[in-house]
Amino acid sequence: MDSRPLIGFCAAISASLLSGLAAAGEPPLIIAHRGASGYLPEHTLEAYARAIELGADYIEPDLVITKDGILIARHENELSDTTDVANKFPERKTSKVIDGRKTEGWFSEDFTLAEIKTLRANERIPSRSHANDGKFEIPTFQEVLALAAQAGAKRGRPVGIYPETKHPSYFDQRGLPLEPRLLLALAEAGLNRADAPVFIQSFETANLKALKELTDIPLVQLFGAPGEQPYDEVRSGGHLTYGDLATDQGLASVAGYAAAVGPFKGYIVPISRDGAARPPTDFIARAHAAGLKVHPYTFRSDPGFLAAAYGGDPVSEYCLFFALGVDGLFTDYTDTALKARDESCPMAP
Ligand code: G3P
Ligand code: CA
Repeated sequence: MDSRPLIGFCAAISASLLSGLAAAGEPPLIIAHRGASGYLPEHTLEAYARAIELGADYIEPDLVITKDGILIARHENELSDTTDVANKFPERKTSKVIDGRKTEGWFSEDFTLAEIKTLRANERIPSRSHANDGKFEIPTFQEVLALAAQAGAKRGRPVGIYPETKHPSYFDQRGLPLEPRLLLALAEAGLNRADAPVFIQSFETANLKALKELTDIPLVQLFGAPGEQPYDEVRSGGHLTYGDLATDQGLASVAGYAAAVGPFKGYIVPISRDGAARPPTDFIARAHAAGLKVHPYTFRSDPGFLAAAYGGDPVSEYCLFFALGVDGLFTDYTDTALKARDESCPMAP
């Protein structure tokens, strides 16, 4: 695929857009998606620490919960894709319906923290290094907060925390709501305040609206595919889709409770099936007009993830999104994103 048209387009729009960004003086936030997950098994203290060493502004723990009510960092409550649970607890395999989908495996809410602490993390993605499989523990949210505080003090610049509530309705239904524990942990860390370096994110809407009444921490509405619905909407029999939320009216409603939106990248630069980039949409401009910051996900340099449009060069993707005016982005490769932001892209001084 010839990437030149896209890169040419990027260069053409850069000058006008980037001058405005530079004047604003706020570089886009680099959010370490699941830690330095391009290099180390995701959602481990080691992966977060590596991301901080690389210079991430924020680290992103996804949160689920244990049987005894402890928040832990995992992308989903089914544990076998990223841990050795199947080897350690073969008899505990079961089947559940999670957010409407039948799922087989081992689930965080069936294990105590003491049991979870016997597990070790594995790399999820087959094409990435598995040299560290079996080495690292599954961290609690409190351990992640402690690491961020310690590392922030050491580097003289706060390490932001960007927690995501995973399956909030599901856990609430089972008497294990995530939100009270999340706010308590943040309060104990001195971070339950509007100006703390924290964003709380969710793919659901109801828990964010409830959180809006309980905390001044900025909230982030994540957007799945336009045709999909937030699961709380499905549960309540509603018809609202993420596509509806992405309309002007939808964005205005989101701005009633959230400070930012986290769309997948295709809301901003659609990619066709053959990997070609279509012209950028007006999503960022409309979100900004609604008063919302825009933090898209997920930027990955791996050949299997980086669209052909970028010609094998992840920096060209970062530069395009910076040029279009994102306020931050989620990346598996903090170092590449920072190099793009601070050195390679036209917005660099
Ligand atoms: O939270 C932003 C991004 O992480 C959403 O995708 O599935 O990696 O949690 P996911
Ligand atoms: Ca996430």
